[in-house]
Amino acid sequence: MGDHAVYVVGAGGQLGRALMARTFGGGAPIGFGSAELDVTDAAAVASALAGLGPGDVVINAAAYTDVDGAETDRAAAYAVNAAGPAHLAEVTAAAGARLIHVSTDYVFTGEAARTVPFEPADLDPEAAPTTVYGASKLAGEWAALRGDPTATVVRTSWVFTGGPDSNDFVGTMRRLEAARPEISVVDDQRGSPTYVDDLADGLVELVEQTWVVPAATAGKVMHATGAGDGTWCDLARAVFAGVGADPQRVHPCTTADFPRPAPRPAFSVLSNDSWRAAGLTPLRDWRAALTASLDR
Ligand SMILES: NC(=O)c1ccc[n+]([C@@H]2O[C@H](COP(=O)([O-])OP(=O)(O)OC[C@H]3O[C@@H](n4cnc5c(N)ncnc54)[C@H](OP(=O)(O)O)[C@@H]3O)[C@@H](O)[C@H]2O)c1
Repeated sequence: MGDHAVYVVGAGGQLGRALMARTFGGGAPIGFGSAELDVTDAAAVASALAGLGPGDVVINAAAYTDVDGAETDRAAAYAVNAAGPAHLAEVTAAAGARLIHVSTDYVFTGEAARTVPFEPADLDPEAAPTTVYGASKLAGEWAALRGDPTATVVRTSWVFTGGPDSNDFVGTMRRLEAARPEISVVDDQRGSPTYVDDLADGLVELVEQTWVVPAATAGKVMHATGAGDGTWCDLARAVFAGVGADPQRVHPCTTADFPRPAPRPAFSVLSNDSWRAAGLTPLRDWRAALTASLDR
């Protein structure tokens, strides 16, 4: 195991930082931040990963994640989210290595009427993004799997870090709790909050499994999210309660109260059956993970 290298692309992002804090088969990963490796540049990708060999793994945590910005910056979103994984997959396939590509619940429409979690690959005809971001990420999934038939796509959702200074939903709620007597948070969008450390631990398990049972996840689309689900209002209230504040200071509102350039899915809970079926450990319930994250 220790003979194989793990590369993290997008190492400076929320997930990238969590991955860089971990070891894989006992070894530290090699990370490239956006300044060191621009995934939109095919030649730069080939040169940065020139040392790649059989059994090595590249985790793509690089993404254009400005969901509203993508609506008007389509070319940039596709360059990073679709061409990026295509470049990476070409290199991993040529080297006999594997690409693990991270994707999103936004590949689904998340129509309000739905009440059962979305399933992965087998029901992918349902993947029908309503945003440029989601469409660019779906194109990236296809590019990863087409370019590297052993690639694994891991969709996640509502990723949070939770530190007092972190730039995610939980960190933002902590700052709002300290700054404002009352806030309003949307209560008609349901999903599964995912603690970034749990996702990173799950990806470590997935990578280490590729060295023992490569076929278990080769060419597959899988979901890895925190267990359970809730609305953004539920999450905000749990943050308030978790820091000892009154959760009733968070008032429910509707998506229509806060119009955004990119429509948000009303229901984007993902089934984690594929993850379990591959023999991987399900991520813990988001409420327990939130408690852990608030201690950061
Ligand atoms: N956050 C969520 O709630 C969420 C939900 C579902 C799925 N995901 C997926 O999870 C993955 C990780 O997301 P995250 O939360 O860690 O996002 P993030 O914090 O925005 O990190 C993305 C990283 O990608 C880098 N990047 C952007 N353009 C690049 C390029 N051309 N070349 C190389 N790197 C580039 C960014 O660097 P700069 O900052 O320097 O541009 C940033 O460090 C993404 O695939 C995302 O789609 C996230």
